[in-house]
Amino acid sequence: MNGLLDLDYINYFFAAHRMNLIRKDIIAACYKKLQKPHGDVARWQAALNDLPVIENVSIAIDKTIKLSGACQADPNAIESTLKRLCPWRKGPFQFLDIHIDSEWDSLLKWQRVQATDIDFSDKNVLDIGCGNGVFMWAIAQAGARSVTGVDPMWLFYHQFMVLQRYVNNPHLCFLPLGVQDLPLKNAYDSVLSMGVLYHRKSPLDHLLQLKGLIKKGGDLLMETIVLPDTQKALLTPQDRYAGMRNVWMIPSVGVLCDWLIKVGFEITHISEIVKTTLDEQRQSAWMDFYSLNQFLHNDNNELTIEGHPAPYRVIITARS
Ligand SMILES: C[S@@+](CC[C@H](N)C(=O)[O-])C[C@H]1O[C@@H](n2cnc3c(N)ncnc32)[C@H](O)[C@@H]1O
Repeated sequence: MNGLLDLDYINYFFAAHRMNLIRKDIIAACYKKLQKPHGDVARWQAALNDLPVIENVSIAIDKTIKLSGACQADPNAIESTLKRLCPWRKGPFQFLDIHIDSEWDSLLKWQRVQATDIDFSDKNVLDIGCGNGVFMWAIAQAGARSVTGVDPMWLFYHQFMVLQRYVNNPHLCFLPLGVQDLPLKNAYDSVLSMGVLYHRKSPLDHLLQLKGLIKKGGDLLMETIVLPDTQKALLTPQDRYAGMRNVWMIPSVGVLCDWLIKVGFEITHISEIVKTTLDEQRQSAWMDFYSLNQFLHNDNNELTIEGHPAPYRVIITARS
């Protein structure tokens, strides 16, 4: 599996950013993960290897994460290569002249993150469930000393490498791991858990893990689906929620705050709740499975097709 994951780089990254406390545990977890790679990894590696030479590379963030540079290759061939890494759920990205129109406009969520009180400057930041790393680029641009992204899906690692193989940003490190694989040694200044809580079977255990990852006095940014109720309420869907099988519990903001306080966080900011719109999440040529539109009730868009409250989201920041 040499070449799939650069363990030397990971070793360097954790040493360079003064996270020696967790360096060896992380290397051991990555090594273990490499023992059982996904069956499609060779196909995704081949797609990465087929991307063209680009010179004078730069990256910028505006309405997309945009990679620019000088390239002689045929844009249609590049687009076909990038489509071999479908589905692109998070983004959007601009790769030279090609617009990767992902299912989610993640930069709308990023605007909501920026509207909180969180300050990433000179921090070692961990983004749990980072998807293809779309927010890692934005957090780095916001001045973080380092950004570790963890997501167990090998496809998303390859999508991240589409940009990182050109940019080689030494402040970024994607680990193809789950949150449960990380050592709980209070190593990070700031931890983000966005879109993960409702996928965890035991949400309180997830919050306790987050507590174990953050330094004393450090910050948590929790972004998740909530019930629109102003009262304390909790939904445990008996079957699917908005078409998703792996949704375990959705609290109202009041219950989520109780959970955070119970495990020892001090809440510092609670955003308005925001309904997920079809501008933010929809099918596209780069993600052609069903999306939010197909998962809302035909006659009432305040409900999912199963009859649950439609997704609203909140961001809560808290001090550990
Ligand atoms: C709903 S997406 C959210 C992605 C991104 N954070 C965002 O807010 O747009 C949930 C992500 O969590 C990842 N995930 C699933 N199980 C995980 C685990 N055990 N540890 C870390 N991430 C996980 C999934 O692969 C997926 O990319």
